[in-house]
Amino acid sequence: MSTTVTWLGHSTLSIETAKHRLIIDPFFTGNPSCPLKAEDVTCDYILVSHGHGDHLGDCIPLAKRTGAKVIANYEIASWLEKQGIKAHGMQHGGGHDFPFGRVKMTLAFHGSALPDGSYGGNPCGFLITTRERKKIYDAADTGLFGDMKLIGEEGIDLAFLPIGDNYTMGPDDALRAVKMLTPRKVVPIHYSTWPPIEQDAEAWASRVRWETSSEAVVLSAGESLQL
Ligand code: NI
Ligand code: MN
Repeated sequence: MSTTVTWLGHSTLSIETAKHRLIIDPFFTGNPSCPLKAEDVTCDYILVSHGHGDHLGDCIPLAKRTGAKVIANYEIASWLEKQGIKAHGMQHGGGHDFPFGRVKMTLAFHGSALPDGSYGGNPCGFLITTRERKKIYDAADTGLFGDMKLIGEEGIDLAFLPIGDNYTMGPDDALRAVKMLTPRKVVPIHYSTWPPIEQDAEAWASRVRWETSSEAVVLSAGESLQL
């Protein structure tokens, strides 16, 4: 059974396993490159990497309408639970088995303030191992860090890396990240949504193909790949 992974623009991802659909960083409303409306999205789980509006996005209405459980750091999970949302809090380095597979929360160097100014804990990335044994790493918003080498040792089938620069790693550091993570496939995210993060993803993908043995795949918003 294959896993279908779809990039929905910016950092919004959909992962469909045999029985479950996950949405990571559900930024639909106001996401200029997202081909879907929040009202049309269905999911069983929502993963939120940090509190910023372009990641928390439509989490609350989406979780309320679908009944999806939100997986986030402890602080964001508690903030959501106070608003009547089902949430599962975790912290960095910890993993948990869910019906769709395992989620391990990884480091990310970034901010995490929530939209109302509440403390959003520390930002994270996600290492997801589906029931079908596919390993997907979403670095989310982060700068480069050396412990990506440790994450890579787990054997990654697909990595999502930000390349936008300014708020996250840019193309040069994302290329260094690929060298540490050694994923089978890598997809760039968090670029060209707005002018400060404008990047040439195809040029970056060419450098990845030239300098590493990872397969760089540039998706257009709404496009999927199968694992
Ligand atoms: Ni952010
Ligand atoms: Mn962001």
